[in-house]
Amino acid sequence: SRGVAQGRTAYHFQPMKNWMNDPNGPLYHLGWYHLFYQYNPDSAIWGNITWGHAVSKDLIHWLYLPLAMVPDHWFDSNGVWTGSATLLPDGQIIILYTGDTDDYVQVQNVAYPANLSDPLLLKWVKYEDNPVMIPPTGIEVTDFRDPTTGWYAINGTWRIAIGSKVNETGIALVYETTNFTSFEPMDGVLHAVPGTGMWECLDFYPVPTNSTNGLDTSVNGPGVKHVLKASLDNDKKDFYALGTYNPSTNTWTPDDPQMDVGIGLRVDYGKYYASKTFYDQIKQRRVLWGWIGETDNAGDDILKGWASVQSIPRTVVFDMKTGTNIIQWPVEEVEELRLNNTEYLGVELAPGSVVPLNITSATQLDISATFEVDEAALEGTLEADVGYNCSTTGASVRGALGPFGLLVIADDSLTEFTPVYFYISKDTDGSYQTFICSDEIRSSNANDINKRIYGGTVPVLDGEILSMRLLVDHSIVESFAQGGRTVVTSRIYPTKAIYGAARVFLFNNCHRSECHSIGQHMVDELGLYSPVPVG
Ligand code: FRU
Repeated sequence: SRGVAQGRTAYHFQPMKNWMNDPNGPLYHLGWYHLFYQYNPDSAIWGNITWGHAVSKDLIHWLYLPLAMVPDHWFDSNGVWTGSATLLPDGQIIILYTGDTDDYVQVQNVAYPANLSDPLLLKWVKYEDNPVMIPPTGIEVTDFRDPTTGWYAINGTWRIAIGSKVNETGIALVYETTNFTSFEPMDGVLHAVPGTGMWECLDFYPVPTNSTNGLDTSVNGPGVKHVLKASLDNDKKDFYALGTYNPSTNTWTPDDPQMDVGIGLRVDYGKYYASKTFYDQIKQRRVLWGWIGETDNAGDDILKGWASVQSIPRTVVFDMKTGTNIIQWPVEEVEELRLNNTEYLGVELAPGSVVPLNITSATQLDISATFEVDEAALEGTLEADVGYNCSTTGASVRGALGPFGLLVIADDSLTEFTPVYFYISKDTDGSYQTFICSDEIRSSNANDINKRIYGGTVPVLDGEILSMRLLVDHSIVESFAQGGRTVVTSRIYPTKAIYGAARVFLFNNCHRSECHSIGQHMVDELGLYSPVPVG
């Protein structure tokens, strides 16, 4: 029989077995971070969706808990789908989730903890008069799902948003409530973007423009921008935009209409979907979760017995330097996994070079790398790769100002490796564009895997050195460029570059003789832990 690449991660969250998709209702309560997730307890493919449940003290080490909610009522008998938690000022916790009814209608339901003083929140009660929202006139019954966390608006009312579409226009509907049992649809929409299709898993939250703290979801006013994120069902990508929320008109306006939701910035340019944030009231930060799905075939998922991983939770802040994007960064707790630190200073990368780093067993790494590109190379070319795009050109194609970066999850003889790299293009007007890409084409010798080249542009300001941070975890590579302005996640299926055979290299594959880059690289080997079931 042919082998199936295993690839279980060491410090990313994944259930012990079976299928997982979206993160749901993340929250902090009485000393514990709670993560719920779309989970099929019976199989490694999607179906029979329940809410899996896990808790952690530090967002890294998790304990598995019994299922929080299963399909057991007419209003969710075809699945307990995605939803969000809202913490009310009196301490109540409200969960709103989509139920797929016995008739395959998408409705919104309320659930709450049976016992708020239980730090583990083991038992959940579904409100007896569910559903609390049904698809309104003009909306298809299969286009109404994934309620957001509530925000306190004005006049004692709370609001929540729900994604939908009208024809091919993606829309955010808003409902108002005072008691979280009766909900009134508001006139109009929070926002709509033609051509973007169904909006799944909306996320809507404030970010301060003058601080790196996070904000409670209800905060608004001067010095606050609002992020609107939609997961585009058509192409399974998470898009966001920065804008302003006006509670009186209940509309959100993007700062830059050219960079609107679904046509502008991506949360992550790799394999990443259905992301959701929550406000961590203890550390006063906003934390983002995202689902990293599989790119193999369902048959192999059944053979290996599991599917999907959650991204490392990331803090989200507004980028005060560019003013045009958010910054995502792995939560600081991940740094506690660091065991051995090795520094490589002033490594010179000549054009065409591949330099091994003496890390054995390079499967669990936290890499910080900076690159300085030779001025002569930058100045010496008038025009370089205008119109470059990560997805059309992989790391094997040699350009004038790139690619250069790292080869991770590589075996000694380089039969398998995943390049994560910068690529610079230069226009005739002297302007540069920098890309961060992750090339999966040679990541695995296994067949029947959808190997892609992912990536996007990253803002680089005058005088800044190029930097990237990589979290490598067996089959996951999360890459954060320029302090987290652009993020790219790859899910890979190594067959040779596993455990003790995995290595890491630096490379520079640009072809011009002037094109040297010098780098400072710090590699941290990360400790392994195994999540344990309780109860
Ligand atoms: C997104 C999604 C949601 C839905 C859930 C069902 O991945 O399709 O829209 O609520 O997954 O599992």
